[in-house]
Amino acid sequence: MTPTLREVTVRGQDIELAWSDARPATTLPLMWLRDNSPEGLHPDTKQRLVDTFAIPAELATRAITVEDQGRGLAVEWAGGGQASYFSAAFLASLRADPEVLPVRVRTWDRDQIAGRVPSVPYAAYMSSEATVKQFLEQIAEVGFSFVEGVPATPEATQAVAGRVAYTRQTIFGGYWDFTANLEHKDTAYTSMAIGPHTDGTYSLDAPGYQMFHCLAAECTGGENLLVDAFRIAEIMRRDAPEDFRLLTEVAIPGQYIDEGRGIHLMARRPLFRLDAAGQLAQVSYNNLDRAPFTLPPARQRAFYRALATFNALCNDPSLQYRRRLLPGAVLLFDNWRVLHARDAYTGYRRLAGVYLNKEDLESRLRSLRARAGEAI
Ligand SMILES: [Fe+2]
Repeated sequence: MTPTLREVTVRGQDIELAWSDARPATTLPLMWLRDNSPEGLHPDTKQRLVDTFAIPAELATRAITVEDQGRGLAVEWAGGGQASYFSAAFLASLRADPEVLPVRVRTWDRDQIAGRVPSVPYAAYMSSEATVKQFLEQIAEVGFSFVEGVPATPEATQAVAGRVAYTRQTIFGGYWDFTANLEHKDTAYTSMAIGPHTDGTYSLDAPGYQMFHCLAAECTGGENLLVDAFRIAEIMRRDAPEDFRLLTEVAIPGQYIDEGRGIHLMARRPLFRLDAAGQLAQVSYNNLDRAPFTLPPARQRAFYRALATFNALCNDPSLQYRRRLLPGAVLLFDNWRVLHARDAYTGYRRLAGVYLNKEDLESRLRSLRARAGEAI
């Protein structure tokens, strides 16, 4: 239920809003109210039309009143100017980090994910927006989900991805579909084992999500595994706080080199990237793609120790969810959170997939939530 306003008090250049429920009061500067007035937005584009820099530093109001039984706040500005009206729902939804989707993150280990592996059925997923929302909520909560019962064709795979967002283009193309042919200079294109990692450590904006669909699996081995690196972060923060802190500080460079095509991508960021509020925002780890870089000797040794702590947890079977991907099951996972890996295999295996951008999937979920009348 949307909270209602109880009272508004002007204190100098600020107002204080008291709510009818137990939440703490909200303080907003008059300057902010003028700058964010809904009347100052373009009605269609929702872009700001008000000239922020023409608003005087010292503002005065003729009247500020709680209206509509607490459901709104009306502001009449001294010296003219269009009056402002803010809904209580809007004022109650304000957050310091509006771009971060509110989600109930549930980290997991092998035993916690066993028996409650998230999935949705293909037919419902393709026909119902509510099922797409359910799928995306599962990914927001645990970092991955499956669409089950998908036809093992490139068209169906791309249609599943298209229900979420458009495909990201990279040096590997958009939609990819390959066997072990070393078409690109990467172990993903071999039948060798690939240890737990995230993709795109060499990209400034690593792919937010990755989708896999195994279109043919006439092979032995090749089991996939997923690890919740947010759980690893929790463990390290508790049991190895110095290692954890180091991995939030040292920006590790990643690189991808394909000399034949004239490609040399590089980017760097800490293995555990925290946001401005100190919350874990992204995990980046691919030891194969780490580029040479130096630290002062003592810190270098500490770095190797911290990296070894992380790597040991990645390879701890009690933290790994294992599943052999077979035709029909499309996996979508959060590449900023969940590490993926694959055992070596012999035989024929055809894997297809796409990358999706972080903000595009979040946009889809935000709009599905808004349509369902939920907080975004
Ligand atoms: Fe990968």
